[in-house]
Amino acid sequence: MSDLHNIAKKILSNGKGILAADESTVTMTKRLSSVNVESNPDNRLLFRETLFSSSSMKDCIGGVILYDETIKQISSGGKSIPELIKDNGAVPGIKVDTGAKDLAGSKNEKITEGLDGLRERLKEYYELGARFTKWRGVYIISDNLPSKLSIISNAHALGRYASLAQESGMVPIVEPEILMDGDHSAEVCYKKTSEVIKRCYEELYLNNVDLKGTILKPNMILSGTNSKEKISKSRVAELTIECLTNNVPSEVPGIAFLSGGQTEIEAVANLNEVNKLNNSSFIITYSYGRALQQSALKFWSKDISNIKGTQEVFNHRAKMCTLAALGKWTENLENSK
Ligand code: G3H
Repeated sequence: MSDLHNIAKKILSNGKGILAADESTVTMTKRLSSVNVESNPDNRLLFRETLFSSSSMKDCIGGVILYDETIKQISSGGKSIPELIKDNGAVPGIKVDTGAKDLAGSKNEKITEGLDGLRERLKEYYELGARFTKWRGVYIISDNLPSKLSIISNAHALGRYASLAQESGMVPIVEPEILMDGDHSAEVCYKKTSEVIKRCYEELYLNNVDLKGTILKPNMILSGTNSKEKISKSRVAELTIECLTNNVPSEVPGIAFLSGGQTEIEAVANLNEVNKLNNSSFIITYSYGRALQQSALKFWSKDISNIKGTQEVFNHRAKMCTLAALGKWTENLENSK
C-alpha cells in the first residue's frame, strides 16, 4: 500500500480523529480575545502546546492540523512542534490555503486562495515534518447560492491543491464547507452539499488524485442556524449518510467532519448518531476545531499556567469525540471523568 494510503488510515483508524488547531493568527486572536487573553506568539504557543502534550494525543488524536506560525515554533521542551506531535503519537498536518477572499463576479461569495507558489510551500512543510495538509473552500446558502461560479471555482482549486499535496508526499484533506448561517432547511442543505461534493470529486478525478490517499472534511447536513425547523439527531444522521454515500466515491477511506459552529455536545451527539447508522465503507470521524477546544480554552484562560487542569478538560472532550467516532457515546458519559 502506498505511504499516502497508510497515512490516511493511521490518522483516522480506531476511533481517532483530528484536532484542527489551524486557526489563522486573526482567528486565534478572536478566540483569545473572547476569553480575555492577550494574543501574542507566546500565548498562542502555550495554549496549543498544552493540548499537543496531553495524554489524549496517544489515545484519541490521529492528526493535528497546524497553522504556518505554529509549525515553525519550538516547544518549551526544545522540540519542534511537529516533533512534539509525532512523539506523542499523532501525525502533524498543515493548513496550506491562504484564506477565503471575495470572489470576483459574485456579491457575497468567497474563493479560497493559495495556489501560487504552493509547490514550494509544500516542500518546506514536508521538510518541517508535515505529512498531511488541509484546504478549505467555503460556500454560503441562500436563494440562489452557492452559485455555479463558486461551486466550480472552489472545486477547481481543491482539485489542483489535492494533486500538488500528493505530489509532495502528503495526504490532502479536501474541505468543502457549507456554512450553517441562514434560515434554510436541512433538505436544502442536503441538496446544495450534494452538488458541491459531487463537483469536487469531478475535479479530483480530472487532476488524477489518488482518492485512497485523501480525506474528506465536510459539513454535516443540518438546518440553518436561523431556521425555524428543528430536526432530530437521527434525521441529521440519515440525511448526512445518504448525502455522503451518494456523492463520495467509495475509494475515499475516511470522512472527518468539521464542527462548524455546533456546540461541543451537538457535535458529538450528531457524530455518534451518524456512526450508529454508518453501514458504508467509510471511516467516519471528527476534525474539530471549536468543538474540541472551546471548554479547554475557557478553563485555561482563568489561569494560563494551569497546564494539567487544561489537559484534563481537553482529554475529556477528545475522549467524548472518539467515543462518538465509534458510535459508543451517551449523554451520561459527559459527566464521567
Ligand atoms: O476549517 C475549519 C476548521 O478546521 C474546523 O473548525 O470545527 O471549528 O468548524 P471547526
